[in-house]
Amino acid sequence: MAVTKAPKTVYACQQCGAQSPKWLGRCAECGAWNSLVEERVATPSAAAAATEGRYATPALGPGRSATAQRYADVSLAAVDRIGTGLSELDRVLGGGVVPGSLVLLGGEPGIGKSTLLLQAAAHFAKAVGPVLYASGEESEPQIKARGERLGVGDDPLYLFAETCLERVLDEAVRLKPALLILDSIQTVFSTKLQSAPGSVAQVREAATQLLFAAKGQHVPTFIIGHVTKDGALAGPKVLEHVVDTVLYFEGERHHAHRVVRAVKNRFGAASEVGVFEMTGVGLKPVPNPSALFLAERPARVAGSAVLCAVEGSRPLLVEVQALVSTSTYGYAKRTANGLDSNRLSLLLAVLEKRAGLVMSGDDVFANVAGGLSVDEPAVDLAVVAALASSLRNKPVRPMTALFGEVGLAGEVRRATHASLRVREAARLGFTRVILPPDSLDPADIPAGVTLVPVASVGELLDALYE
Ligand code: TYD
Ligand code: MG
Repeated sequence: MAVTKAPKTVYACQQCGAQSPKWLGRCAECGAWNSLVEERVATPSAAAAATEGRYATPALGPGRSATAQRYADVSLAAVDRIGTGLSELDRVLGGGVVPGSLVLLGGEPGIGKSTLLLQAAAHFAKAVGPVLYASGEESEPQIKARGERLGVGDDPLYLFAETCLERVLDEAVRLKPALLILDSIQTVFSTKLQSAPGSVAQVREAATQLLFAAKGQHVPTFIIGHVTKDGALAGPKVLEHVVDTVLYFEGERHHAHRVVRAVKNRFGAASEVGVFEMTGVGLKPVPNPSALFLAERPARVAGSAVLCAVEGSRPLLVEVQALVSTSTYGYAKRTANGLDSNRLSLLLAVLEKRAGLVMSGDDVFANVAGGLSVDEPAVDLAVVAALASSLRNKPVRPMTALFGEVGLAGEVRRATHASLRVREAARLGFTRVILPPDSLDPADIPAGVTLVPVASVGELLDALYE
């Protein structure tokens, strides 16, 4: 009788983690091309432990009970949070770091991930307790060279250039830090597995071990993660499910200001943003970003409109720009930056059908100035305004801001947080706000602002110019 032998290697998809006994050009699960990589199968004991969730029982953290508790007996403890010394980082985290939480920070190379966390580490070392900064990317002198620019003092900040995860965790047990930072998850490996650092199996294993360490020792832990070419966090989706919070550096490193967005947060509002400015001495929080985003706005130029956006719980004024120009090639180009390109196509179709503005033979470029990306539907009115203004080569009336969603019939739909948006516009000196009808209670209208409700795209086009 033939005995089926377990294969020694499997092919694991680096996108979704699916496994296949043989190599395939395209993952059968998620459809990603060329994403299967050969990996050694974990030793049976480790594999069994992994599938059954039986890692060594972690030590109980403070405030944890070994048995299940009755709902009625659970007391509502307020989550205590620890400030990071960076007001904007505290804001995206939902008010500070939660003890025992695991936070993933992703972003392009060179955008400032290591800088941000080294600054937070320096503050923690000074104000809270020892910090362990483990790096598989840079040597201790390299990290120190960066720290010198940031003015890190001689507080108990421990640097550890190490790629072996178990050794990092041993150091964490020895030092009992108040904060643990791992730069980056793709460079560490666990000795339990034989696959290369950065592979799906290793990333998943490292994240799980860090989760147990964070919860068990009640240490807040930050993990830095790399992003792939198309901007997604590298490594399997499982990474995002394991951690409590996913923060993400948005935009490009060519801008002086950086936007950190909470994509997921178990301890705060998702899609909250924090804004920083990269300076010669590290990242500086920008508490009043509307002014920053509007600072370079050209005066009285066609194709520019000001949007009252809301990101998380914060209102933000940003400039939406559009350029409509006759296409010289056989086909018309549509490019959207910081906006959903499908949404742009939809709005162009609505403008053609409902307002008679035909741009099918034109190249259309639209973007949100300043590297922010806006994905809420309330951006529509500002995009339509910028497009119409560029097409007609007529500037939008000065000191006008807009928000509101556009439907397929050309109708204007209401947006959330209307009074928050109007108040922010008033605060920055805008005198006219074009918005969906019945958005605001008359009592909520700030002094000095005229509201211009529009019910359709056609009404918007009439209200746009002087
Ligand atoms: P870094 O934090 O190393 O980026 P990441 O870890 O995301 O790859 O550095 C980002 C960039 O910021 C780097 O090109 C140098 C620059 N920088 C400053 O402009 N000012 C500073 O004070 C520091 C420390 C870095
Ligand atoms: Mg780095």
